[in-house]
Amino acid sequence: MEISENLFQKYNVPVPRYTSYPPATAFHAGFSSDNYVEQIKSSNNAEPQNISIYIHIPFCTQRCHFCGCNTALSQSEDRINRYIDAVIKEIRHVAQYVDKKRRVTQVSWGGGTPNSIDLAYVRKIMSVLKSEFLFADFAEIAMECSPAYLDFEDVDILHEIGFNRISLGIQDFHLNVLEAINRRAPKHDVGEMLAYMKNKGFNGLNLDLVYGLPLQTPTSFMENIERVIELQPDRIATFSYAHIPWFNEAQRLMEKHRFPTPDEKLEMLVFAINQLTLHGYEVIGMDHFARKNDELAIAKQNKMLHRNFQGYNTKKTTGQVYAFGASGISQLNGAFAQNIKQYDKYIESIESCGLAVERGYILSKEDIVIRNTINEIMCNGFLDFEQMAAKSNCSVKEFLAITKFNTSKISTLIEDGLVKLTENWLQVTPEGMLIVRNVAVAFDPNFVPVINRYSTTI
Ligand SMILES: C[S@@+](CC[C@H](N)C(=O)[O-])C[C@H]1O[C@@H](n2cnc3c(N)ncnc32)[C@H](O)[C@@H]1O
Ligand code: SF4
Repeated sequence: MEISENLFQKYNVPVPRYTSYPPATAFHAGFSSDNYVEQIKSSNNAEPQNISIYIHIPFCTQRCHFCGCNTALSQSEDRINRYIDAVIKEIRHVAQYVDKKRRVTQVSWGGGTPNSIDLAYVRKIMSVLKSEFLFADFAEIAMECSPAYLDFEDVDILHEIGFNRISLGIQDFHLNVLEAINRRAPKHDVGEMLAYMKNKGFNGLNLDLVYGLPLQTPTSFMENIERVIELQPDRIATFSYAHIPWFNEAQRLMEKHRFPTPDEKLEMLVFAINQLTLHGYEVIGMDHFARKNDELAIAKQNKMLHRNFQGYNTKKTTGQVYAFGASGISQLNGAFAQNIKQYDKYIESIESCGLAVERGYILSKEDIVIRNTINEIMCNGFLDFEQMAAKSNCSVKEFLAITKFNTSKISTLIEDGLVKLTENWLQVTPEGMLIVRNVAVAFDPNFVPVINRYSTTI
């Protein structure tokens, strides 16, 4: 694939990111803990039956100034202990409503930095999960780790606990950039660490990079891409940094440095796509690449890719998501439920009633149809209208009416060879997958193009 900058210049318009449909901005405080309990109970009779679990550890040893995640500086052992006990209490509380026959196929640990806490806590939570839920043999158990705090012995412990996937946050290999974002360099050589993990049997190994950070230049970012190509991880994520200091005060601390211009960011993105695809990586979706033999690339080829707040995964291993910990978002067939973001308030709520729901959203039948459609486009770039209608228990005509789709919405994309459309199906081409949210928006009947509400592609 050889992409030119014109593609992004033409389609760099504000559209939703579709991390979820409806987006998290639609969640509201009218959704209560009682609603969550009702939804957990009804999730037992909905598809998929598989259970995905998300555990949020909000703590970080040092706060990177660019970071947009829900984090807090690491606290006293006593505080961490109280947080872990709260997560365990929440797991037990939720588990009582979940059908014991359902199987856990995925556990994702994110944060924050889950490997910044003593791994004895991780072991404790995993053993509670195993006592409360039935696990599938092939369950995917993953942790997002910071390489600044990861030792080879930690990898041994994670392996022994049952982990089989690890993602490392690299962001940038250059020390001047890491210093500008207040981040420590990896503790060990990343190549040796990846080889060690692979040897232990971990797979789906991922490296995160971010483009648009202070002091990055197109040349320095190209060096990052060349380095990851040498390292050959199974997966690579290249996230676009958004400077939004009015939401995230710490980002102001980086303003004394030079940031790459939008044109330079575009050059970085285009270089990344062209080089990664030239060296055996496939485009999985916006920002994500996987080697051809990785399960995500295979799932994509088989139209079995799925996506949730934890990232891309396969339909085999994903399920309805039950999230535990501060800010965690549960994604059930009929609802979203988000926990309180501040970890201390989360602890208080769990200690008093076992749950900490702050806001959420109950999906209507139409919402579910639109969500499934947008997910299929974003993940697999393909829609069979009859199949979608059958899945939605309606006719093709009704399906098209619910999504308010009509050909004129994508005529430019068709002319540019980014989408193919027949009477029965729609296919996004590999190039079209790079701006796939511009396709998905054609099936979102609630999209209103409001300036400054949505981010642009880059
Ligand atoms: C929870 S962190 C990963 C684990 C660990 N805390 C670390 O930093 O290595 C999740 C990822 O989100 C991405 N990220 C965080 N803040 C971002 C931002 N403002 N813009 C783009 N990507 C961001 C980074 O690539 C980061 O690796
Ligand atoms: S990037 Fe990772 S380590 Fe840095 S503050 Fe965010 S979550 Fe913590």
